[in-house]
Amino acid sequence: MNSRERFICACRRQPVDRHPVWLMRQAGRYLPEYRDLREKYDFLTICKRSDLILEASMQPWRRFGMDAVIVFSDILLPLNAMGARLKFEEGTGPRFETSIRTEKDIQSLSIPKVRISFSYLLDAIQNIEHELKDEAALLGFVGGPWTLAAYLIEGGGGSFECATSLFRESPGLVNKLMEKITEAVTHLAVEQARSGADAIQIFDTWGGLLEPAQYREYALPHMKKIVDAVHKVNAPAIVFIRKSADLLTEMIDTGADAISIGPDMNIADAILKIGDRAAIQGNLNPEVLLRSPSTVERETQKMLDAAGKRFGYIANLGHGVSPNTPVESVRAFVETVKKHKL
Ligand code: CP3
Repeated sequence: MNSRERFICACRRQPVDRHPVWLMRQAGRYLPEYRDLREKYDFLTICKRSDLILEASMQPWRRFGMDAVIVFSDILLPLNAMGARLKFEEGTGPRFETSIRTEKDIQSLSIPKVRISFSYLLDAIQNIEHELKDEAALLGFVGGPWTLAAYLIEGGGGSFECATSLFRESPGLVNKLMEKITEAVTHLAVEQARSGADAIQIFDTWGGLLEPAQYREYALPHMKKIVDAVHKVNAPAIVFIRKSADLLTEMIDTGADAISIGPDMNIADAILKIGDRAAIQGNLNPEVLLRSPSTVERETQKMLDAAGKRFGYIANLGHGVSPNTPVESVRAFVETVKKHKL
């Protein structure tokens, strides 16, 4: 069984020889070769040149041989293409030139022609796929409409107080913004799959800022729309929320093939609650990777033991790798999963 088959089978809860493994944010600043690339180019330049996307995407795979490569990009790029000017500043993270808070602001956003605006990304996907062949699955991704709306309303990252209070006061208005975002990211998800991505992950990182009932009424219908569109092009969809414990039912109801759970739950509980309704991805706490390789090995083993012999499991972290992670910890994580035969 090759890595690509192993990954796709796990998404579909079909038999595998061992659990596939990859890490959210596996490309990035913890890698010396990525830091070298960043000496020469800023983050957005890397995201917008297909040769540099290929290089950054392949770096972790060349070093560790994960079962999946995620294309190097960012969930916020489609918002830039919709007309919200975006900057990434050292230390402060993403910032938009203006925030989107009124009907008029929403009207000013446009729906990009994905094949034109994202030709560099779609070309990179084709080239990565060509280079990987079946040696790893290739993942495309988009952000969840609520998470992306929250960044636009806030004008960047942070505590999202403006976003949550605008949602409380005018859920209908925020819903209009989510509708527009959904249209843009649905096209982008579908075109990534058409260009060669084997599966699509939807990062609804900040879903947990909403109450489950609010998520169900406002965010879930948009998530479902993206999942349905991805299914129409025969790709499995994975849904991620950073704090997933309270939103597990909502995540299942998106129709996603796999649910990526955060470090706020344990795998055994997730298995009980999700049953055979979806595959499970996760969920080692990324902080464990800041400890010694032997601790990483022990904690990874505990996670695998909790997953048991279940088909439909993808080993991963509960959230992204942090920049100060030693490369040897990432190696210990990947190797421990690879040694664990079913
Ligand atoms: O291996 C990969 O996962 C690479 C592709 C990738 C990036 N961002 C690259 C990146 C992916 C899948 C993302 C997703 C993303 N981006 C999310 C959802 C997942 C999550 O982490 O919750 C979110 C919320 C963002 C928005 C974003 N991008 C923030 C808040 C920041 C700044 C904070 C930070 O980590 O620096 C980014 C920047 C970013 N995106 C970097 C990378 C490698 C660091 C940029 C640099 O090189 O300076």
